[in-house]
Amino acid sequence: MRHNAGMKRLSLAVLIWLLLAGAGVAALFTGARGQFTETFNTDARILHRVLSQRMEQQEAVLNAVDALGQGMDAAALGSYLDTLLRPYPQVVAVERCTAGACRVLGTPAEPPPKLAPALSPDPAVRWPEGGGPLYALSRGDVRVWVDARRLTGALDSGAAPLTYTLFQPATGAVIVNHTQEGGTGAASTTLRVEKVLGTALQPFPIVISRPVPWGVWPWMAGLLWTLLTAGLTALVWRLLEARRTAQHALLDERARAGGVVEAASEAIVALDSLHRVTLANPAARAAMAHPLPPGTDLRDVTTFQATLSQAPFDAASFWDSAGPVALPEGLTLLRNGEAVGVEGSLAPLPGADGTLRGRVLIVREVGPLQRRMLEHLENGERRVREHEDMLAHVSRLSTLGEMGAGLAHELNQPLTAIVSYGQAAARLLDDPEPDLARVRHAVGASVTQAVRAAQIIVRLRQWVRRTPSTARPTDLVQAVQNVLTLCRADLNRLGVRVVTDYADAPLVQADPVQLEQIVLNLLRNALDAVQDTPDPAIELSIVLERGGWSLSVSDNGPGIAAEVAPRLFTPFTTSKSGGLGLGLSLSQTLAQGMGGDLSGANAHAGGAVFILNLPRLELEAASD
Ligand SMILES: Nc1ncnc2c1ncn2[C@@H]1O[C@H](COP(=O)(O)OP(=O)(O)OP(=O)(O)O)[C@@H](O)[C@H]1O
Ligand SMILES: [Mg+2]
Repeated sequence: MRHNAGMKRLSLAVLIWLLLAGAGVAALFTGARGQFTETFNTDARILHRVLSQRMEQQEAVLNAVDALGQGMDAAALGSYLDTLLRPYPQVVAVERCTAGACRVLGTPAEPPPKLAPALSPDPAVRWPEGGGPLYALSRGDVRVWVDARRLTGALDSGAAPLTYTLFQPATGAVIVNHTQEGGTGAASTTLRVEKVLGTALQPFPIVISRPVPWGVWPWMAGLLWTLLTAGLTALVWRLLEARRTAQHALLDERARAGGVVEAASEAIVALDSLHRVTLANPAARAAMAHPLPPGTDLRDVTTFQATLSQAPFDAASFWDSAGPVALPEGLTLLRNGEAVGVEGSLAPLPGADGTLRGRVLIVREVGPLQRRMLEHLENGERRVREHEDMLAHVSRLSTLGEMGAGLAHELNQPLTAIVSYGQAAARLLDDPEPDLARVRHAVGASVTQAVRAAQIIVRLRQWVRRTPSTARPTDLVQAVQNVLTLCRADLNRLGVRVVTDYADAPLVQADPVQLEQIVLNLLRNALDAVQDTPDPAIELSIVLERGGWSLSVSDNGPGIAAEVAPRLFTPFTTSKSGGLGLGLSLSQTLAQGMGGDLSGANAHAGGAVFILNLPRLELEAASD
């Protein structure tokens, strides 16, 4: 099939070459022939004019001899003629006739043949018996013999040979056939023209011809042209064939690649640089539950969703990534409302010049086996987390044991007070006329102390409680702002100036509620500290420090009291009448649970500074 087509194309190429070569050669030969004809016509015209002039010369000689000869004797005329005829070699003899015979005058170049005299006053051409190249022009008693062979002598026309034949006008007999020397070899063709000599007395028909020898045709040019066109045709043919072969190979390759893509069990979607679908295989249409017609913006029909403790999926940076990027492990694809575990990648497709032509997305559904593996992993992870919580709980319990004495002391105070207030109230009520105002005061004071004891217990419970930490990427600024909102009323009431200075997007891995609890404790302490300051101010700043985020809360209060400073983070350390002394120790425990720490000190400029350090979280790093 393909072989046949190849033969057809080859024959077509040969045909085109033959046509090209033929046309060129024909043009060359036609041009040459035109040139030969033109030269021949010019030469023939010149010959015709020369011959016509010669004829007129003969007639002039005849008229001159006729006019001069009347009174002259034969001898004198003869010697005169010898001189007169010298320039006219074709005039071979002059005769004067009587009724009986004709006598040659002077010295003839050739003896004239016998011809009966015919004395007529009108000029006429006389042909001797038997024809031949000699003929006579006669007028009255004068006869001028012309040898037609001498009319042109050696033709002076140059290289190209010219042949002519003169005919007797009446009979058509050949007078002379003049063939020029040099015309040798076989002629390819003969150029010919017929004319009549332009004189009054000798209007002889003349045929002028010229043989065109084979050698004068442009054989070499024709051959060169043929070879040139053959070469050119072959070149063009080979170029076209090479292109055809390359095209075939390309189509083959494309078909093969297309087949591979179609057959792949992975979802494969090729996108242009604007994320529009250019090609999607059946697996892709099934995976996305969408027909994915070319031109669809894939971002509009594909929703990836993070799971487990993954960082949120950053769709924008995923779709526009400059290099190849893998889907984060454990990612799901939302299909008809159901989240399907997937893995895969998005890779850029550079064009031949290296610029981005588009991207190709490859997605595989995580198989049932892999899904079960992931579930196991998730369970394992949860168990580890539970274990960690348990450990923290136990360590806090042991801390609790250590601070048992402090706790007993703390609780003993309100309890003793309640007992004494209660006894006092009972005593007062035993009076015959009890002082109800004092009783009410005693009871009120014991309620206050009971509330304080209850508070101690509530805070303690809170501190000891196993709160599972649900750490997730949390914005530190967000947490600070939430707390500021919470305290807005108190800040306004005291007229506190709040100065803030935040870095951009300080992300940390933390439980947002616990984080807010820490910030709230610090802000509350600062508020307490600036209560009696004339121009109260609190400054909150977030900076990147040694690879982590550091939130500092500083105030212009009196600073940390010397007796409190050494035990700042020990439970029940307080300098406040209503304080429990648990805020800072609870906050430090929480901060350490997040992998960070809390510290506090007096600032050089006065006031206290508390600094919360937390490890920095990077979304990219988390999503890998
Ligand atoms: N900004 C501050 N300036 C000066 N002293 C402070 C500051 N913050 C804390 N302190 C000192 O540290 C002590 C312990 O604070 P902590 O927050 O642990 O307990 P508290 O504020 O006294 O009571 P609570 O348990 O109700 O918070 C405070 O009583 C106070 O003396
Ligand atoms: Mg406090």
